[in-house]
Amino acid sequence: MADKLRVGIVGAGGIAQHAHIPNYLKVSDRVEIVSICDVVLDMAKKTAEKFDIPNVFSSVDEMLAGPELDAVSICTPNKFHKDASIAALRAGCHVLCEKPPAMSVAEAEEMANAAKEAGKYLTFGFHYRHSKEVDTLKRFVEAGELGDIYAATAIAMRRRGIPGWGVFTNKALQGGGPLIDIGCHMLDTALYLMGYPEPTMVLGATYQELGTRKGVGLLGDWDYQNFSVEDMARGFVKFANGATLVIESAFAANVQLNDEMNVKLMGKEGGANVFPLTIYQERHGALVDVSPVYLPDVSAYEREIKRFVDACLGGEPPISTPEQGVKLQRIINGLYQSAETGETVKL
Ligand SMILES: NC(=O)c1ccc[n+]([C@@H]2O[C@H](COP(=O)([O-])OP(=O)(O)OC[C@H]3O[C@@H](n4cnc5c(N)ncnc54)[C@H](O)[C@@H]3O)[C@@H](O)[C@H]2O)c1
Repeated sequence: MADKLRVGIVGAGGIAQHAHIPNYLKVSDRVEIVSICDVVLDMAKKTAEKFDIPNVFSSVDEMLAGPELDAVSICTPNKFHKDASIAALRAGCHVLCEKPPAMSVAEAEEMANAAKEAGKYLTFGFHYRHSKEVDTLKRFVEAGELGDIYAATAIAMRRRGIPGWGVFTNKALQGGGPLIDIGCHMLDTALYLMGYPEPTMVLGATYQELGTRKGVGLLGDWDYQNFSVEDMARGFVKFANGATLVIESAFAANVQLNDEMNVKLMGKEGGANVFPLTIYQERHGALVDVSPVYLPDVSAYEREIKRFVDACLGGEPPISTPEQGVKLQRIINGLYQSAETGETVKL
């Protein structure tokens, strides 16, 4: 490998420009962004100019056939995660693929198999895992402060937060709405803190009550006439170890808060809310809340990219694995299946 990690970017839109590229640039002593591609060539060109990226392509295959790369960030809509990730893995690159892993369980499995065959890392952009709150709470959980965690709630609820840009309301390109888009973040966070237990059964329901009509848009005006995803999803998950998880996720719902992202954990020795980080315990005959007065202030995206770079350069392996990606996808797609059939789904 060259002195620096040679990185390529697939998809030059929002997340590439706001999270991946700027944070690779923060570790430019160890990383060189060599290439970028986007099916909209002009988008790739503009982004390349903005960040001074030398090589521009209009497809992932052309990019992989160009100057040699060691690692690739996949920042396309969900539908293209699988093909782009597999192409990059087969070209000998480590892959950081944006969340969710894929559109279906079969796709996530194919990606995991490709990573195994290539002997390269495949990890996902679950940046909340790298937030100071989750990073800290994970250490408390591992030290036994919560005991066995037997119940969790994952919340990703927006009052009127239907994205007015991108393809987030297009089921064919994204695989679903808030559940697969923002719900997957809090679901992954809960599972990560619980030790990724084996899911056995799900029951889900989805709604499309507000997204298909004109209304207040706190994230811009969305295309309500072509709104093909759910605007809210609710679900219940059972695990082989007896634990259960409740999830609720919405782009739009008549709730108090404009934007609520949280995970609540209940363990035998303690519980926790992730945002703001607070641990609930019974100690010496008292009920106490433990909350940090200092946490190192590193952004979640910055830590995610730095850890990916570290891993590619021979450091600790990524904390988000392809096998966890498959497990998460089984839950998400199981919830959608349950919503469609009205039945519980055994996983
Ligand atoms: N981690 C997070 O919090 C977070 C936040 C936003 C988006 N995302 C994820 O990032 C991904 C992209 O979202 P975004 O907001 O950047 O969308 P976006 O629409 O702003 O950008 C996506 C870009 O990909 C390009 N593209 C589409 N198909 C392509 C292909 N086959 N090859 C190359 N380029 C292609 C599009 O032309 C577009 O420029 C999604 O999977 C989304 O879930 C994650």
